[in-house]
Amino acid sequence: MNQKQPPSSRQLDAWRGEFGDEYRGRNVADEAMLAARTAMWNRMLQPIADDLPKKILEVGANIGFNLRALATITDATLLALEPNAGARQRLVDDNVVAAQNVFDGAASHIPIDDGAVDMAFTSGVLIHIAPDDLGASCDEIYRVSSRYIACAEYFADAPQEVKYRGHDGLLFKRDFGDYWMDRHPDLRLVDYGFFWRRATGLDNLTWWLFEKGRE
Ligand SMILES: C[S@@+](CC[C@H](N)C(=O)[O-])C[C@H]1O[C@@H](n2cnc3c(N)ncnc32)[C@H](O)[C@@H]1O
Repeated sequence: MNQKQPPSSRQLDAWRGEFGDEYRGRNVADEAMLAARTAMWNRMLQPIADDLPKKILEVGANIGFNLRALATITDATLLALEPNAGARQRLVDDNVVAAQNVFDGAASHIPIDDGAVDMAFTSGVLIHIAPDDLGASCDEIYRVSSRYIACAEYFADAPQEVKYRGHDGLLFKRDFGDYWMDRHPDLRLVDYGFFWRRATGLDNLTWWLFEKGRE
């Protein structure tokens, strides 16, 4: 288990502080949001619908847009890791995740045991991790999942940094599917796709579902 606190970084400091609090204030867990996320997870889990994960960790959960949707379509025990304190509090206050399953930390420092969940995922989180921290973050996500890894992120053919709400150093796009499979070559691609904003209400997200290799 990685009990160490992550070192501070420009990105984590921003998400822990006012920038992260403002994000939380802007994004409301309303019916439209829940419907879009429920459709998203129904599609992403479709290939494994016969044997859904029983314990799911979202890394960078914020107030649980994904976890609220997952709670409507699976019976899984839900866990959340989130660096922003106010968002962690909302997860508990809104009964999205049991208090003992909400963790402070960062993708690079996840305070749970190896293989403790059968699916770990990110949604709009790898894009906010600086390239130098991305490898350690993916390795931690890989470590804590015994079976499935999923992500839904902004795609670019080649790694590129773009301004995020006028800020430098907070948004990095790339082909995260390539990144995952190059870094952990035992991963098997289960499925992938694209959620076009116009049709789904989601944010032009490219997604992948991987299964870890078995011995
Ligand atoms: C754009 S929001 C996405 C929230 C949620 N995953 C969703 O899809 O609605 C990014 C979230 O990731 C968190 N975050 C940022 N950097 C992180 C890191 N290195 N490890 C874990 N979470 C992080 C932020 O605090 C924020 O809650």
